[in-house]
Amino acid sequence: MIFDLEQKTTNEKYKLMAQTIIPRPIAWVVTEDDGVLNIAPFSYFMALSSTPATVMISVGHKSDATPKDTLFNIRKNKKCTICIVDEEHLEQMHFSSKELPKSLSEVEEFNIETTTVLEDFPPMVKGVPAAYFCDFNQEIDLGGGNTIPLILNVKNIYVKDEAITNPERLTIDFAPITRIGKSYARVGDGIEPPKIP
Ligand SMILES: Cc1cc2nc3c(=O)[nH]c(=O)nc-3n(C[C@H](O)[C@H](O)[C@H](O)COP(=O)(O)O)c2cc1C
Repeated sequence: MIFDLEQKTTNEKYKLMAQTIIPRPIAWVVTEDDGVLNIAPFSYFMALSSTPATVMISVGHKSDATPKDTLFNIRKNKKCTICIVDEEHLEQMHFSSKELPKSLSEVEEFNIETTTVLEDFPPMVKGVPAAYFCDFNQEIDLGGGNTIPLILNVKNIYVKDEAITNPERLTIDFAPITRIGKSYARVGDGIEPPKIP
């Protein structure tokens, strides 16, 4: 079946894409403004380049049409910290997607413990397996719609010591949570790549 996207609503297009581009990694994004820490998950998230180390998240608007707090804060303060989520943090991550007034922090609302590891960036969520400390690079104009892709330069990457299986070879092993449609999956057993003849 071919789906003509011109004939589809935003929700239908989301359903088609979110169930076919799978699994999607989850960026659990920490930003800060006026002393209020904001934490929210985004699964329109991907790596763009290793040098310069660059990732992208796409952030939309609230139900009242104002920018989501993450978008507002990154535009204003040009910084964010992206946490990678494991199963231990699944519930807090999911709860933190609730739409809250900007003055309220998910930290207090959902008892999310954070830890400052780099003074120049928002804190990361305590205990996550990995985190990316990012500077805002630019936003992309898609020529309509209200979801804004934000390009972010990654300045530092944190990986928890237990996940680094061989520091010399920089091998890392942990089980992040990813999104499939509206559900979640734990990244499981890897498959060795076949040898190209
Ligand atoms: C797993 C997951 C992934 C999500 N991905 C996105 C996304 O890619 N873009 C987006 O705008 N909202 C996404 N959302 C919804 C936001 O998390 C939600 O709107 C949140 O309230 C935004 O918070 P903020 O206003 O504090 O930035 C996602 C929600 C969940 C649970």
